[in-house]
Amino acid sequence: MPEQIGVGIIGCGNISAAYMRLAPLFRGFEIRACADISEEAAKARAAEFGLRAETVDGLLAADDIDIVVNLTIPAAHFEVSSRILDAGKHVYSEKPFVLSVEEGYRLAEQARSKGLRIGSAPDTFLGGSHQLARHLIDGGAIGKVTGGTCHVLSHGMEDWHPNPDFFFKPGGGPILDVGPYYITNLVQLIGPVKRVAAISATPSPERTITSQPRRGEKIKVETPTTFHALLEFENGAAVSLGASWDVWRHSHSPMELYGEDGSLFLPDPNFFSGDVKMTMKAEFSDAFPAWEHPMSVVNEGDGDNGVANYRAAGLADLAQAIIEDRPHRCSLELSLHVVEIMTAILQSGEDGRFKTLETRCERPQALSPAQAAALMA
Ligand SMILES: NC(=O)c1ccc[n+]([C@@H]2O[C@H](COP(=O)([O-])OP(=O)(O)OC[C@H]3O[C@@H](n4cnc5c(N)ncnc54)[C@H](O)[C@@H]3O)[C@@H](O)[C@H]2O)c1
Repeated sequence: MPEQIGVGIIGCGNISAAYMRLAPLFRGFEIRACADISEEAAKARAAEFGLRAETVDGLLAADDIDIVVNLTIPAAHFEVSSRILDAGKHVYSEKPFVLSVEEGYRLAEQARSKGLRIGSAPDTFLGGSHQLARHLIDGGAIGKVTGGTCHVLSHGMEDWHPNPDFFFKPGGGPILDVGPYYITNLVQLIGPVKRVAAISATPSPERTITSQPRRGEKIKVETPTTFHALLEFENGAAVSLGASWDVWRHSHSPMELYGEDGSLFLPDPNFFSGDVKMTMKAEFSDAFPAWEHPMSVVNEGDGDNGVANYRAAGLADLAQAIIEDRPHRCSLELSLHVVEIMTAILQSGEDGRFKTLETRCERPQALSPAQAAALMA
């Protein structure tokens, strides 16, 4: 295997710029070409980042591309990933990986039969803060995790995304869109989920776009926009997850985990970094290890608005895992389990029943500061 794996991107919309901008931070892969159903979109991104613009067919046939990153809209993820595997290339998909477990099983079988790998975002759980939480939990700092709460509550996506329609159609909604960050982080910290239940609601049947360039246009809402879900983990932990685009303001923290000996307060798992707080029993503690994690370093924005953004870390781990012949962390098993948790929450919201899950996964391997540094250029 080469030291640099050639990467192509299908889907040259909003998030593609982040992958193209951040890729040089990492070792093991190089983005060489991009494609989109809209050839203009592909040409524009290619010109911006010095890449080769291809048609989708051209990119799938290219000899210098071994991993294709699927950055299309959620409703196209299955079909595009299936075409990538058909073309004999590894897939790295943006979240949500697919929209049903059945689609996931079909891609898994396709990949298995061709000896190819599938990886999927989110990769934010590889960030320094979430890996510090993992290190503390694995070291027994708060004892066995027995419960927790997660809150991802806002007033929606129509105020910032230029084409926000897909957020309000089947395949969108806050569970499939932002749920992957929270649920994936919970699974890496606590382990697999056994069963879920949920209440869902759609308070507004129509949304008005307030972002440019489509300000004033209406979107018909075709998927619930508020969820209150319960997750029971294999280890017995009980966690509640509130996910909504119908809340103007709230004062909950993004993620709290309660253990037999203390509590952990985690930052928003939509980002790689932020403050981690811990208590020993009821008292706040600063018994943190030295933690020079390179994916905690703020690299975008200034002052209070600064964030650590290492999107593409999961892609780098996949590329290096292929080179080193080891498992990758943003794995098929993890993403398939997260898809089943999310779709079971959606189903429970419809029929009011608890759902016992059929998939499970091992927790992905932790990413220590030294291992994170090895992923980086
Ligand atoms: N925008 C973000 O901040 C963000 C962050 C994290 C993850 N994501 C995820 O990334 C994915 C893309 O999001 P986005 O915001 O970039 O969307 P977008 O609508 O801005 O871009 C999607 C692009 O995919 C292209 N496309 C659609 N169907 C296609 C097909 N069948 N073949 C080829 N190209 C096709 C579209 O023409 C468009 O250019 C989604 O799954 C989303 O959940 C987005």
